[in-house]
Amino acid sequence: MTGRAPLRPVLYDEGADRVRLLDQRLLPGREEWLALATSGEVAEAIRTLAVRGAPAIGVAAAYALAADARRGADAATLARSAEHLARARPTAVNLAWAVKRISARFGEGAAAVLREAHAIRDEDEAACRRMGALGAALLPPRARVLTHCNAGALATAGYGTALGVIRAAIEAGNPVTVLADETRPFFQGARLTAWELHRDGIPVTLLTDGMAGWLMQRREIDAVVVGADRIARNGDVANKIGTYGLAVLAAHHGIPFYVAAPWSTVDLATPDGAAIPIEERGGDEVTMVAGIRIAPEGVPARYPAFDVTPAALVGAIVTERGVSRPPHPEALAALAR
Ligand code: MRU
Repeated sequence: MTGRAPLRPVLYDEGADRVRLLDQRLLPGREEWLALATSGEVAEAIRTLAVRGAPAIGVAAAYALAADARRGADAATLARSAEHLARARPTAVNLAWAVKRISARFGEGAAAVLREAHAIRDEDEAACRRMGALGAALLPPRARVLTHCNAGALATAGYGTALGVIRAAIEAGNPVTVLADETRPFFQGARLTAWELHRDGIPVTLLTDGMAGWLMQRREIDAVVVGADRIARNGDVANKIGTYGLAVLAAHHGIPFYVAAPWSTVDLATPDGAAIPIEERGGDEVTMVAGIRIAPEGVPARYPAFDVTPAALVGAIVTERGVSRPPHPEALAALAR
């Protein structure tokens, strides 16, 4: 790996009271930072994917409310802003989790709100490092690991969940390599995973979304490691659309399929995958690429942004509390205690 500074996509500028976000819509072409003053601006940045990835949007929302509090917003205004932020994206439970956690500090003053936001940020990065160590132990020597979407430093406070497992394996001396699905329609794999791994000198090869089955059949993939946006009580996993298909393919070919996610992604209040709200985004993101129309005018498109992988297809759920192995309902209940 290179000696470059660790990538942290969500920061707080205490001098100016601004939430600083690496604008992920512009990567890999341009590395530009937004400096946002209000929670309304941050909610829009979350909605438009300037910041994305379940833990990262939770951290961004926490800092957004800290910025409002430090500008003197009263408790009623903060509560309204909190609700607005929590609605910005529905599937990733980390967003609602962080908003709820920070809201509990509103009565204690702005300094306490900012302290809590820093704690959410710091705990997420620490969780990623712990998950990395636990997940790395699951990978065989020189594993060729397939990942989907971006579950890296860019999607978290830093280090990453699925990509944290990769980083930890390499740091432990296991020279694993990565195959990254491009991840239509928003290309988080091509634009973000490839960018962040290449930046850190980690070998990555890009695939189109349809290639995984063929490479699995040829025994060119040793494990699949992905992140999660919400894990239900029974172990069903919501993650970027396309994840479910990979899990089915992995099961067919006898290839381990692992999920890495912080405990803040586990939603014990949601019994199973059928109860997870799945975000539907605008059809433009499917019919247009970088401003160019790639489908005939007038043809409708679908955009479920996430799918649900049944717990039965998940070989391990790696959290900072420990690793859940099937049967996941019992294993997650044990980790919850
Ligand atoms: O729509 P996105 O880019 O926010 O979707 C992100 C994902 O699906 C990630 O895999 C998930 O949030 C895990 S991030 C550590």
